[in-house]
Amino acid sequence: CDTYHHVFYVKEASYTRLCGTKKMMTVNGQFPGPTLYANRGDELVITVFNYAQENVTLHWHGVRLPRNPWSDGPEYVTQCPIQPGSSFIYTVTFTDEEGTLWWHAHSDYSRATVHGAIVIYPRRGTSYPFPKPSGEVILILGEWWKRDVSAVLETARETGADPTPSDAFTINGQPGDLYPCSKPGTFRMLVEPGKTYLLRMVNAAMEDALFVSIAGHLLTLVGSDASYTKPLTSDYILISPGETMDFLLTANQSPRNLYYMAARALSYEPVNNFDTTTTTAIVQYKSQYTSWSTNPLLPSLPFYNDTEAASKFAFSIRSLASTNWPINVPKRFDQRMVITVSVNEFECPPGSCQGPNGTRLASSLNNMSFVNPSIDILEAYYKGINGAFDTNFPSRPLYYFNFTAEYQPFALLKSRLATEVRILEYGTTVEMVFQGTSLVTAENHPMHLHGQSFYVVGWGFGNFNEEKDPLGYNLEDPPLKNTFGVPTNGWLAVRFTAYNPGVWFLHCHLERHLISGMDTVFIVKNGVDPGEKLLPPPPHMPPC
Ligand code: C2O
Ligand code: CU
Repeated sequence: CDTYHHVFYVKEASYTRLCGTKKMMTVNGQFPGPTLYANRGDELVITVFNYAQENVTLHWHGVRLPRNPWSDGPEYVTQCPIQPGSSFIYTVTFTDEEGTLWWHAHSDYSRATVHGAIVIYPRRGTSYPFPKPSGEVILILGEWWKRDVSAVLETARETGADPTPSDAFTINGQPGDLYPCSKPGTFRMLVEPGKTYLLRMVNAAMEDALFVSIAGHLLTLVGSDASYTKPLTSDYILISPGETMDFLLTANQSPRNLYYMAARALSYEPVNNFDTTTTTAIVQYKSQYTSWSTNPLLPSLPFYNDTEAASKFAFSIRSLASTNWPINVPKRFDQRMVITVSVNEFECPPGSCQGPNGTRLASSLNNMSFVNPSIDILEAYYKGINGAFDTNFPSRPLYYFNFTAEYQPFALLKSRLATEVRILEYGTTVEMVFQGTSLVTAENHPMHLHGQSFYVVGWGFGNFNEEKDPLGYNLEDPPLKNTFGVPTNGWLAVRFTAYNPGVWFLHCHLERHLISGMDTVFIVKNGVDPGEKLLPPPPHMPPC
């Protein structure tokens, strides 16, 4: 195992997109930010200096960080923010992860521009469970606002409405040919005829799951969230914010043509409520003479509200069992939690809010809209400081939503503002069933758990039926994921065993829901053995 050191300078830089220039927060002036490389088993030590004007924290999305939540990053959950002019050192070890993950800011709306990929190669001396590709390409999907993103968040907070939709989607920071002033920058992927490439894809978009497809070519999924999958070949894919996917692409089409890779949003909302534009990159064969074809072929993508297509792809993913990669699905559980996933509305004095029907939007888990405490939960827990959080996050919804009922309890529309966490004994096996409610809006919520991945064992449309639905679970080869979408108008069941002592955030990875309360925290208690206990904090945690 090797240790590598990196220095991240968080600072402002000017970027020009969509015919306009703006200053924005970056790491080392790069957008997307620098890629981190490691082999499984390595340790990275990343020193972060905040030279920007705003607070920041960084999160290593999908890295377990055994016993070390101190380096996990979500503000007011595991640390206080790194203030302008100060610094913090993160220690990130890769014990179980292999494939592609990513890092991003976990503070207000800053992750829109502060993010990058993490590539974790197999342990030294081992190899991929598929033939070695001829090349590898990182593809980071993102979202671009012409406005300053902290102003976008500020407006949403003032008006109580959702943040305004983005002005463009991006591939490796570039909107692509279909947007104004964007053609010269379009990302080009050069391929040699007959060769196979590994595409490492990250959805770093703030608010949208994306359908992605490449004209004329098939994509074969071989890994997701740094865990290998059985090969799954498809002509389109769905990737939620937070998810990462590794694909094989074989360059087996006519080298005379240019091919667009295109991505656009999955949404169930009215078209004026989300970004309906399409981002593109170009797949170009190396033997191609540009004079032969100047108009790349566009792929056909599922319609924006095609939830069937979304579920069809998402629920075809299966874990690959291999010697380096055993499947350990918990066959039983100690506790089942049913968690409603809702968007809520609060009444406002007339004329003061711009949410639906003049309301203020919030969102919740089991009717609790999570409020950030004034000191971080990890510090309060570790030092035994009272008053920062409550430990009564319920394991059942207080008001149950019934999709087929005619009358919905009005109480469901409101949520309680609180900081409720849930304590888990070390080694507890938990089944979480996320129940969509589709009260204010019907959406696909990508739920993300820090500190451990979970197996996605079941899903369905409508209401979860506690007697019948578990009979249909996949306990043989379900995918091991850190982020997974609760289907629109449906439910999702996942299982994990709490073997990682610490304080771990659970939230929707749509940023508008993360910041409006669709969150809670698991505190996993220490085990008995010394190797099952939380590590002590590093010397200089930032103060609140
Ligand atoms: Cu990718 Cu809590 O986040
Ligand atoms: Cu959500």
